[in-house]
Amino acid sequence: MKAIIPAAGLGTRFLPATKAVPKELLPVLDKPAIQYVVEEALAAGADEVVIVSNREKQAIVEHFSPNDALVSHLQAAGKPVYAEAVRHAGALPVSFVEQLEPKGLGHAVYCAAPVVLGLDAGVSSDSAPASASASATTAAPVVPVASVSATAPESFYVLLGDVIVPGNNMLPRMLAISREHGNASVIAVLRVPIEEVSRFGVIAGEALSEEVWRVSALVEKPPIEEAPSDLVVFGRYLLSPRIMELLAHTEPGAGGEIQLTDALVELLATEELYALIIDPTSGFDVGTIENWLATNNRLSRTAP
Ligand code: UTP
Repeated sequence: MKAIIPAAGLGTRFLPATKAVPKELLPVLDKPAIQYVVEEALAAGADEVVIVSNREKQAIVEHFSPNDALVSHLQAAGKPVYAEAVRHAGALPVSFVEQLEPKGLGHAVYCAAPVVLGLDAGVSSDSAPASASASATTAAPVVPVASVSATAPESFYVLLGDVIVPGNNMLPRMLAISREHGNASVIAVLRVPIEEVSRFGVIAGEALSEEVWRVSALVEKPPIEEAPSDLVVFGRYLLSPRIMELLAHTEPGAGGEIQLTDALVELLATEELYALIIDPTSGFDVGTIENWLATNNRLSRTAP
């Protein structure tokens, strides 16, 4: 199964820290956030991990590239633990596609369509499949819908690059729910205080158990009085490949961005969607200063 990690956003809420350093590279304890995300995808058995990035964020490519000189230097300096940490980061098997402009999460996911759908570089003149480990290629989100429909690819994971799940325990549970329900799409959701719902995508549906809902609708950033539940979309998705077909023509929505939520709403017309309610201590959105600080504080208390 492939895993897509969108990491091409502007990181506006973290400026000026993110002027030159990508938000996804900000450290959570001793590791950049996106390294947790890559390791989580690999722990879930992903056979290909594709980061959606852009030319301004070359440091992400560098982080996942080998640096033999630094490893040798650290070994010679008697620092084998740091040498191994550097070697490990450079050896993680990731590839890259480029989102030319930050047009929204849905658009970022769609940039990986050629990879998810197993299309070769000839599909469109300005798209290309992801390259081998740690080298950036371009992949413009232009995949003819006819080509998309002609293939029979498998479901894939989407893991937001600024949301970490240190225990790596979410994707396996989402996969189990998907298998139980005929390979349906599954999203992770989090229960939040009702006064916070307007900042998120909110689900409507019916509870099948304490942890699992069948989703009947999704609303992006509803006013509190219109929120159908207090369950908001968290940064993990297991998606049917049909979502790529829908994203091909999803128009800009909230904030003028192409929203993944809008494509999920459309998906509901033809396919089932389930939600796993996650424990708030198992995953952390580190995409804002407040949350990033709180997550570092929290994890530092449990770190060995
Ligand atoms: P966020 O909305 O948290 O990131 O998107 P952002 O857009 O960088 O943040 P602000 O709003 O400007 O502060 C969640 C994830 O999706 C990626 C981001 O990089 C982040 O990891 N993303 C978002 C993209 O890859 N492309 C986009 O167009 C938007």
